Amino acid sequence: MSNLTFGIIKPDAVAKGHTGKIIDKIISAGFRIRGMKLIHQSKKQSEGFYAVHAERPFYGELTEFMSSGACIVLALEKENAVKAWRDLMGATNPAEADEGTLRKEFAGSIGENAVHGSDSDENAAIEISYFFSKLELV
Ligand code: CMP
Repeated sequence: MSNLTFGIIKPDAVAKGHTGKIIDKIISAGFRIRGMKLIHQSKKQSEGFYAVHAERPFYGELTEFMSSGACIVLALEKENAVKAWRDLMGATNPAEADEGTLRKEFAGSIGENAVHGSDSDENAAIEISYFFSKLELV
């Protein structure tokens, strides 16, 4: 069980002006932000990031969307961080997300669902290192 996870505030949430509200909820939930930057991914970068989904029917749509605008990438620290961040995000499909979760409040659809989070400690380490160098983690 690691204390670090990786998150993204996706292009839909950034474009709608929800970045500040989401960051506020992250801090209020007790996460320490160890890394944070505003980026605009290329199609190639988002294809690399979501390579595990390459065979899925929604891969093209997903990587198109993730490279359609600016997003915020985050390295987050908290005890049992992967689960804590997934609990705060809520279900992938906002129609199934619990009250009080980020996706319930900010997501419009399963594809444009406001935030991303790692699903395991192993993937958190891979995903953090995809976007951050060691020097960028404070
Ligand atoms: P995320 O946590 O970023 O990981 C993979 C993403 O694929 C997921 O959030 C969803 O946004 C997206 N996704 C999953 N299922 C579908 C689907 N059926 N249609 C479109 N996008 C999907």
